[in-house]
Amino acid sequence: MSSATVLPSAGRCDFLLQPGGGVHGRMRVPGDKSISHRALLLGALAEGTSRISGFLESQDCLATLNALRTLGVQIDHAQTGHVRVQGAGAGGLRAPLHTLHCGNSGTSMRLLSGVLAGQPFAATLDGDHSLRHRPMQRVIEPLTRMGARFESAAGHAPLTVHGCRPLRALRYRLPVASAQVKSAILLAGLQAAGETWVQEPAVSRDHTERMLQALGCRVLRDGDWLGVTGQNALQATDISVPGDLSSAAFFLVGAAICPGAHVAIEGVGINPTRDGVLRLLQRMGADIRVHPLTQTGAEPTADIEAQGGSLHGIEITPADVPLAIDELPVLLVATALARGQSRLQGAAELRLKESDRLAAMAAGLRTLGVPVELFPDGMQITGVGQFGGGELDSCGDHRIAMAFAVAALRATRPVRVRDCRNVDTSFPGFAQIARKAGLDLRVAEAT
Ligand code: S3P
Repeated sequence: MSSATVLPSAGRCDFLLQPGGGVHGRMRVPGDKSISHRALLLGALAEGTSRISGFLESQDCLATLNALRTLGVQIDHAQTGHVRVQGAGAGGLRAPLHTLHCGNSGTSMRLLSGVLAGQPFAATLDGDHSLRHRPMQRVIEPLTRMGARFESAAGHAPLTVHGCRPLRALRYRLPVASAQVKSAILLAGLQAAGETWVQEPAVSRDHTERMLQALGCRVLRDGDWLGVTGQNALQATDISVPGDLSSAAFFLVGAAICPGAHVAIEGVGINPTRDGVLRLLQRMGADIRVHPLTQTGAEPTADIEAQGGSLHGIEITPADVPLAIDELPVLLVATALARGQSRLQGAAELRLKESDRLAAMAAGLRTLGVPVELFPDGMQITGVGQFGGGELDSCGDHRIAMAFAVAALRATRPVRVRDCRNVDTSFPGFAQIARKAGLDLRVAEAT
């Protein structure tokens, strides 16, 4: 492994990119982050041993793994990509002896809140600077209605969850589409007396529902309401985690923006509540081909090919947003190179992610010479033929860092992306894989 592509174990680091290059070859990307979190959490609540393969060893998923160990769950993670979770069953978690550290991971904090809401003890969840600024009231409110009590810093971490057993069943309309909030309520619903129902203003990723079914839990549906019956045991199962489409997206866009480039990514999850990035790229005129694989587990998978060509601007509407929420930063890079204007609307949620992703993308694209008009819930971008170069701030946000690294493929001057350490929260090995694919990327100590 080249030292030029390994993130140092401590301290800030930057990505240095020489302009140009392309994206070529066949590759795999690491396991899906959302599914890896859920496999650990549901495996921990089940009866029996769940074996997880394709597990994502990212900082975020390891935060969930360590939190569950602190809650007394036996987890064997001796082999890369493979985890065995000895389910603790409904009543088997124990009070933690110390704070549960979620690092940068909103999924860990929100989904664990749902699990802890139904436990007969108190536990404290904390996170890094970014996570402490992210809204937690959206889980505190419904879980409080179910009977849990929360102490928080005005709706922010650190959160102390005083669990209640059994919880009260709830019927709840989510004010924003959020798979994390929906999942927190469903996880609490498993520990409630009666049926708990949720409804979202738009469809969000359904990995929790699919995995609950794989573990033998009946997921109830009534129109666009979704429910679970409490106090039914989950049965352990083997879970195979597909490649993460959100990670694959960096290379799909990388190929799509470079005429002559071609990439094939194998074994990627193409859950229809997550695959908006593919349709949006196709709407821009990109040559994206999806070759579905035989479905073996709860999640559909495919090999995906992307070929470079010319792109045109598009409207990304509020209905598109939840289906491509994590891919929007790199999609904005594609729109910034596309012919004509593009507009993103209804994406205010992006301001509440690991960074304010609308502000971070607008600032970086402007530095690269792109005319951007920023709105409270989106932006208008006028496509340019190619980017300039310069110093871009990732704002400590993994997806912004990787989106800007991809942008360097069409830069005319070197690009320095500041503060890239958090790439390891979702995509460990990104720098090595990117170099192998054709990006001229080096990791350097921050100056
Ligand atoms: C996730 C849901 C999304 C997404 C996040 C992972 C999940 O967040 O942005 O990266 O695993 O449930 P929201 O549910 O808050 O939109």
